[in-house]
Amino acid sequence: MGKDVIIACDFDSAEKTFAFLDKFTGKKPFVKIGMELYYAEGPSIVREIKKRGHKIFLDLKLHDIPNTVKKSMAVLSRLDVDMTNLHAAGTCRMMEAAIEGLTRPDGTRPLLIAVTQLTSTDQESMEKDLWIEKPIADVVMHYAANAKAAGLDGVVCSPLEAGKVHDTCGTGFLTVTPGVRFADGDVGDQKRVMTPAEAKKIGSDYIVVGRPITAAADPVAAYERCVAEFVD
Ligand code: C5P
Repeated sequence: MGKDVIIACDFDSAEKTFAFLDKFTGKKPFVKIGMELYYAEGPSIVREIKKRGHKIFLDLKLHDIPNTVKKSMAVLSRLDVDMTNLHAAGTCRMMEAAIEGLTRPDGTRPLLIAVTQLTSTDQESMEKDLWIEKPIADVVMHYAANAKAAGLDGVVCSPLEAGKVHDTCGTGFLTVTPGVRFADGDVGDQKRVMTPAEAKKIGSDYIVVGRPITAAADPVAAYERCVAEFVD
């Protein structure tokens, strides 16, 4: 899989999602289905978007005992998604179990990506709430290395961390990066942002873009602008 732009379809209903996707006549962008849409509509939303010909990143961030994650991943794999994820904090054994569950009888499986520390967690909350007393950048790299050792394909990280992740885990280890904004766009609640062109330069493999596309006056033009900056 090469570089691609993934649109975060953060809608609360199938109706709104399809009204949005219907604007893309003739194009089939890679889409991310997160908890909001999945919990609103269930697995049928995955099947319907897949039937329309889109690639799907199912962003449900699993974190549970290894056996539960293994069995849940087997169910998600049968939905034929292209990429899914979990929390590296669930331990290496949980990540290995996830790979086992995800692998189909024919040996294929969706890409599996780990969340290291959420970008909403900072040094202070990590120390105070989680009792992890190491520099957060080191924790992120340690979790990325664990994910690689467990056989995962990459991590979700800030575009600012992508270069370091590739240095630590190799360039073949995928970096999926949210927090992307156009140079002339609204930053919103994202703190550390990069333009699609900067994310490309730093070596991100996939950018996840939500509101700069979903809230644009012309979403198709905004998507094409992302592709032009990041992929072409
Ligand atoms: O609208 P926006 O471009 O900020 O959307 C970014 C998407 O990436 C959202 O679906 C958000 O939940 C997700 N995400 C993120 N930061 C992370 C992990 C996921 O923004 N660390």
